[in-house]
Amino acid sequence: MTDLKPDRSIDMSDDPTKARLTTKRLLLAPVTPEDHDDFHRIISSSGVHEGTLTFPRHPDESWSRERFERVLERSDNSECYFIHAHLLESPGIGAVANLSVDLDERHSRGHLGYMVDEHHRGRGYATEMLMAVVEHAFEGLKINKVCASTWTWNEPSSNLLARTGFTREGHARQHYCKDGEYIDAYEWGMLASDPRPWKD
Ligand SMILES: CC(C)(COP(=O)(O)OP(=O)(O)OC[C@H]1O[C@@H](n2cnc3c(N)ncnc32)[C@H](O)[C@@H]1OP(=O)(O)O)[C@@H](O)C(=O)NCCC(=O)NCCS
Repeated sequence: MTDLKPDRSIDMSDDPTKARLTTKRLLLAPVTPEDHDDFHRIISSSGVHEGTLTFPRHPDESWSRERFERVLERSDNSECYFIHAHLLESPGIGAVANLSVDLDERHSRGHLGYMVDEHHRGRGYATEMLMAVVEHAFEGLKINKVCASTWTWNEPSSNLLARTGFTREGHARQHYCKDGEYIDAYEWGMLASDPRPWKD
C-alpha cells in the first residue's frame, strides 16, 4: 500500500490552479500546450471509454486536440485544476496519468476526473496522485468539498475513492445516458472537515 503520509511539497504560484505538487514518486504538473501527445495517449488507454461519459473508444488526433484545447482554456481561466502525473524516477517516459478538478465557485466544490495509462495501473499511482490533489484542493484551492461519480461497476475507481477516504453518498439510478443506455452511478464526496487517512 501507499504510505499514507506522502512526502509532499508544493511549488505554488499566486494562482493555486497552477501549482505543481511533488509526492514520493510523482511530479504533478499543470498541463501546458506541449502535453497534447501524452494527453492523447492516456485518453486512448483501455477502459477510459468504458469508465467515463464522453471519451470515445478510439479518440482520433483532431478529437483529442479539440478536447485538450478546451482543457487548456479552462485551466487558463482557473475554472479547473488539470494535472499530468510524471514519474520522478523516469521523467523521459512522459505522463502516466491525468487528473482534473472542475471547480464550481458558487458552491465551493470541485468534481474529479482521473485516468491512468493502461501500462501503469495497479501500482498505487492513482492513490498517490489523488491524495496529494485532495490535500491541495482543501489547503491550496480552499474549496469545501471534492466530489466524484463512478459507474457502479467500476471497482478500481470505487476502491480508489474509498481507500482515499471518500464517503459514498448515494446511488444515483439510471442517472446518466451513454451510448443509448442508462447507467447507475455512485456519488462520492469528501468535505474539508472530514478526516483524511494520510493525516494524523
Ligand atoms: C480508475 C483507475 C484510475 C484506478 O487505477 P489503479 O491503478 O487501480 O489505482 P492505483 O494506482 O491507486 O492502484 C491501486 C491498486 O494498486 C495496488 N498497489 C500496488 N502498489 C501500491 C502502492 N504502492 N500503493 C497503493 N496501491 C498499490 C493496490 O493494492 C491496488 O490494487 P487493488 O485495487 O487490486 O487492491 C484506473 O483503473 C483507470 O484509469 N481506469 C480507466 C479510467 C476510469 O475509469 N477513470 C475513472 C472514472 S470515474
